[in-house]
Amino acid sequence: GGEQAEAVMPGAQALGMPSGGPLPEGLRLPLERKDGVLHGCLTAAPLNLPLLPGGKPTAFWAYNDSVPGPAIELLEGETLALRFENRLPQATTVHWHGLPIPADQDGNPHDAVPSGQAREYRFTLPPGSAGTYWYHPHPHGHTAEQVYRGLAGVFVVRSRNDTLAHLPERWLVLSDLKLDGDGQIAANSEADRMDGREGQFVLVNGAWQPRLTLGMGERQRWRVWNATSARVLKLALPAHEVWLVGTDGGLIERPRRVEYVLLPPGARVELAVTGRFAPDKPSGLLALPYARGKMMGPEQDKALPLVGIEAGAAVATAALPRRLGKVAALPKPTVRRRVVFSEDMANPAAMFLINGQTFDMDRVDFVGKVGQVEEWEIDNQADMDHPFHLHGTQFQVTERHDGQGWKKEPFLAWRDVVNVPPEQKVRLRFRQELPGPRMFHCHILEHEDAGMMGVLDVR
Ligand code: C2O
Ligand code: CU
Repeated sequence: GGEQAEAVMPGAQALGMPSGGPLPEGLRLPLERKDGVLHGCLTAAPLNLPLLPGGKPTAFWAYNDSVPGPAIELLEGETLALRFENRLPQATTVHWHGLPIPADQDGNPHDAVPSGQAREYRFTLPPGSAGTYWYHPHPHGHTAEQVYRGLAGVFVVRSRNDTLAHLPERWLVLSDLKLDGDGQIAANSEADRMDGREGQFVLVNGAWQPRLTLGMGERQRWRVWNATSARVLKLALPAHEVWLVGTDGGLIERPRRVEYVLLPPGARVELAVTGRFAPDKPSGLLALPYARGKMMGPEQDKALPLVGIEAGAAVATAALPRRLGKVAALPKPTVRRRVVFSEDMANPAAMFLINGQTFDMDRVDFVGKVGQVEEWEIDNQADMDHPFHLHGTQFQVTERHDGQGWKKEPFLAWRDVVNVPPEQKVRLRFRQELPGPRMFHCHILEHEDAGMMGVLDVR
């Protein structure tokens, strides 16, 4: 339980971070430019981290000995060639979540790298791909375990005409740590496999409740990743001025003032945060209570503090452009499909279903065409929230059905994850520009592992 783990990991002595210290500068993956290609090395391997002085270290799995893994940052148009080595005791893949790259480089469960083996991942980032992505394992049946043991890293693609390049940036990777009484990463319980795993600690860049400084009036650009298995994070900065400026696949057209953002597992957001500080409001970043469907019981009544924010010196507020970028609406679809999420609690072998089935490596669920605009209706007939995710491209949500009626999505945005609450529906459009098998699945990783996944084969 929570109390036991608090004793295991006191204060913010998390993952080698100084207690309560400021957020670290992101660790970058060293890249070497050769003949116009950026070359790097990524290794997945066990890593022991002392969480307690003198205590037994906690056994993690990590990319390049770091939790989260090293950040990868490239420009649109650049080509990455990465030598990947698997030193885990299990097969794994590296999936480039959200990136529009060739299917055979995308770490599909079909392309597992066996324990002790290596491969190269090589891809070019097409024009227009600037956005906030991440990478994580995607082996069949072991994705959740590999992610909760520490395997995840961020991937940022920049545009040469970035309208927010003048703002200082902060990157916040939110992950979930669940420890047992010995301070070791706990295996998934039966409840975790059903509801999705939540730990005692939501970590930010590998640290528990770190602090940062925000100047009075200072405007910063925050990129936030939800790398937890299963938490829908309702993020708020009650004391500050917050504008939504970007989603998974890059900037939206105009800034939108927000009181909170709902970030489902797997999703990312870009925010323009201006330090205001109000004596009557908490100054930090909080996760507000959110009831994840009917399975989750009563809403917790307490907000969860994620990051402490201290007031820095007054700073002139940088301008926020009225036009951030262009998000061209996708034309009318030529294909329409339905994806129904359901649960069968009486059948432990096939509990989480898409169109009545669980994932089969050798089955193609839908056949698509390169360049064709598709519209998918995601219909959640289950009892809990299931965040829908599609590989290989970004999509635009066009409408949402809240149980009463369809409502047009108020603004255009590129996303690759959308939360679908129980008894609700979402319509989205996309175009796959490259051929090959593309996975679609629930991004509660325990559900993905349980087979809540299908394959769109683009030809
Ligand atoms: Cu973030 Cu199919 O994955
Ligand atoms: Cu799910």
